[in-house]
Amino acid sequence: MDMKNFITFEGGECSGKTTVIAKICEKFEELHIPYITTREPGGIRIAEDIRNIILNVKNTDMTPQCEALLYAASRMQHLSQRVLPAIAEGKIVLCDRFLDSSLAYQGYARGLGMENVLTANAFALEYLPGLTLFIDVLPEVALKRLEGRGKSDRLDLEKKEFHNKVYQGYQEVMKLYPKRVVRIDGNQPLEKVIEDCLKVVLEYIKK
Ligand code: TMP
Repeated sequence: MDMKNFITFEGGECSGKTTVIAKICEKFEELHIPYITTREPGGIRIAEDIRNIILNVKNTDMTPQCEALLYAASRMQHLSQRVLPAIAEGKIVLCDRFLDSSLAYQGYARGLGMENVLTANAFALEYLPGLTLFIDVLPEVALKRLEGRGKSDRLDLEKKEFHNKVYQGYQEVMKLYPKRVVRIDGNQPLEKVIEDCLKVVLEYIKK
């Protein structure tokens, strides 16, 4: 299947992903471009159920391996029930997170290794997005934004370190997929981030 119309969005906390996706939707409405938005993990009942297992505080003893496999499982259900049908109907799919999140979070930050995560996601490799926008925000900028929201106290040292690792993980992902993943400078004011993302997406779909 041609995955050109599959566009994914990646980034750590406070990257502005959600706002960017909403603005792209507005533009698509204006231009009468058919699309859907969705997210991982989730987007469809079984995948949302898996999301609840992964994020349930009761499950803090879940191993990184189990977590990686659950993300991969929810990914396949979501692909087959939501992403692929929309693409078959000629729609553009705007998806908040995909495989690159697993590479950055499980592969790099949790230390499972990129190769192992790729193996766990073997079924999904057939359906890589045509375009991925990675909204790159430096960890210190993200932390300042969190402070601005009065949430910084919740971030203990361990979480900050994890956050830094996720950042490094995404840098590795960009090296693995230099053509598919386009870096957007997320340290700029949100208006400019939105403008840059819109430009890349509109140019891409014209091709
Ligand atoms: P969200 O905050 O963007 O909804 O994402 C939920 C969390 O899941 C976020 O902390 C990133 C994490 N995640 C992974 O660790 N691996 C994955 O493969 C995906 C899709 C998300």
